[in-house]
Amino acid sequence: MNELLTKTLYQTFHQSKSAFALTDKKIASQLRRLISPPPPEPESKPTPPETIDRFKQRYEQLLETDWQDAQRDIYPVELLFDNPWEDFFLYYPAIWLERPKMWQRMEQKKYREFSPEIDTAGYPQYYLQNFHYQTDGYLSDLSASLYDVEVEILFNGVGDAMRRRVLAPLQLGLLDMGLESAAAPKSTNPKSANPKSANQERARILDVACGTGRTLKFIRATVPKASLFGIDLSPPYLRKAARLLSEDTGELPQLVQANAEEMPYRDSYFHGITCVFLFHELPATARQHIIDECFRVLQPGGTFIICDSIQIFDSPELEPMMEAFARAFHEPYYKDYIRDNLLERLQQAGFEKVDEQTHFSSKYLVARKPKARV
Ligand SMILES: C[S@@+](CC[C@H](N)C(=O)[O-])C[C@H]1O[C@@H](n2cnc3c(N)ncnc32)[C@H](O)[C@@H]1O
Repeated sequence: MNELLTKTLYQTFHQSKSAFALTDKKIASQLRRLISPPPPEPESKPTPPETIDRFKQRYEQLLETDWQDAQRDIYPVELLFDNPWEDFFLYYPAIWLERPKMWQRMEQKKYREFSPEIDTAGYPQYYLQNFHYQTDGYLSDLSASLYDVEVEILFNGVGDAMRRRVLAPLQLGLLDMGLESAAAPKSTNPKSANPKSANQERARILDVACGTGRTLKFIRATVPKASLFGIDLSPPYLRKAARLLSEDTGELPQLVQANAEEMPYRDSYFHGITCVFLFHELPATARQHIIDECFRVLQPGGTFIICDSIQIFDSPELEPMMEAFARAFHEPYYKDYIRDNLLERLQQAGFEKVDEQTHFSSKYLVARKPKARV
């Protein structure tokens, strides 16, 4: 298909998703005011128009980068149109049925409610919460079924575009290790060709807190010859991930249910590790434990990429928006997260910083475990 036409389709597709998400949120907040009026919010200044304009520019820039990475053969163009359609048609009505329950929880400040049939034994206390006020937190099949559509609505249709920003630094890190299996699928682009071509080993890549498997799906399309691994605490989310990943051909990633603070992998096993949208949901000590574990299981020279919410130092003008997010979505560790120095944590574990980026409302830290001295 003609490149200009494909790009226009891509932009229109995302703008339509964004318009849908904004309308959904507007109707939901109007309905909430009717059914279950929220307590008055602390008086806040309206967001200045230039902040809104900058935010819109960041949205446009994210789409442009996503498009350009596909043009550079980091991943196939088809990935740009990937969307959880089936979930959307099956579960969007269920999201509306859930909302009154979530509003009630918000009103009554109930965030540790689990259905009696859910076995909560063995999970860390910080995890046993109704993050986002969602029913049963991360511990039910319903929660797993609704999650991807909810994320798309929350991020105005660009949740996946933000996840895909881990792919270019991941591929670069693998190529830097000379891994043959890091070459992109149909890569004819010299920039993405392996400069060293020395290492015949298959790349091993772990996605920490893989949730419903969307990042693993994108990694598999980017590095099809790699062995993939996913770890998460939630059995229902892992079941959902297994279903999603079985839809495509290719080797199935190995999924493990465990706490990422103590990962069941041997030292120096992986060539690359990604971790998307986890750190803002952890208390500070768990953040450090997981970073330390990632350091332990990564090979010297391997790359670790964190993708999570932007922090206050990235965008001080967005602080009121960040504070409102923590209040509205029951994100108990978010206020601490947005002030946390993740770079210092990475360095404390032993990592070297490679790069730091922001895309729309997410930030990315790319770190490397120092190469072994010879
Ligand atoms: C906001 S979701 C992000 C999921 C996924 N990475 C994504 O992009 O949608 C947070 C995920 O972290 C998982 N999680 C939270 N604490 C964890 C821990 N200590 N160890 C492993 N997984 C954890 C949850 O079960 C959930 O799937």
